[in-house]
Amino acid sequence: MKARIDAIIQRDQAEYLEQLMPQTDPLLRELEEYGAQHGVPSADREVALFVEITARAIKAKRALEIGMAIGYTSIHLARAVGDDGLVVTIDPSDEMIKAADGYMKRAGLRDRVRIERGKALDVIPRLKETFDLLFIDALKEEYADYLKLALPKLRGGGVVIVDNLLWGGQVAGEIRSADQESSTNALREFNKYFVNHPKLRAEILSVGDGLGYAVKVS
Ligand SMILES: C[S@@+](CC[C@H](N)C(=O)[O-])C[C@H]1O[C@@H](n2cnc3c(N)ncnc32)[C@H](O)[C@@H]1O
Repeated sequence: MKARIDAIIQRDQAEYLEQLMPQTDPLLRELEEYGAQHGVPSADREVALFVEITARAIKAKRALEIGMAIGYTSIHLARAVGDDGLVVTIDPSDEMIKAADGYMKRAGLRDRVRIERGKALDVIPRLKETFDLLFIDALKEEYADYLKLALPKLRGGGVVIVDNLLWGGQVAGEIRSADQESSTNALREFNKYFVNHPKLRAEILSVGDGLGYAVKVS
């Protein structure tokens, strides 16, 4: 164990890093505000940027996102894959799809994104593509099944990113309410499965709400 394990990520460090983050462009700022006003769960800004940086670094051309909401991280991915790239993103909610469609069109990125309407466990098996990057951000109880279904569709050397693995502190601490019990317990199990997965080199970073980060090694 590191000698000063609690020396870094404390409130003042987190606030410092947050104010240092570059402002997003007006459209993403509007999307963030819409999300905040309507209670739409979007990834933290540093998570969306991390996903985009990774996609650019590995020159991803095909990305699969599980859980789109109003398209905040989809837009980051769509920017990264370039003109000839494709983001396939899955969400069952018509309301989310309508809003995301509008933001993607306004961003000029709609033709890089294929929205699959439906539940991920039904949609993933019928996807034909091989992906360079997989981003998981939907139902916590289903994370392990998403990974099982999607991993065969990820190329060797492809990257897996998984959001919310610390779940607001509950995974390593106390569960705050009864309705968080099943998701928290599922994430506790998922985290062990993820970091020990024989086809992955994986770790969990204290970025955002806890970010799983892995490369497919076999
Ligand atoms: C945390 S949000 C996704 C946020 C998005 N990745 C972002 O950062 O902008 C989770 C989304 O998963 C969707 N969802 C719920 N059940 C799902 C399922 N079975 N399969 C796929 N998506 C699902 C919800 O409608 C919601 O929009």
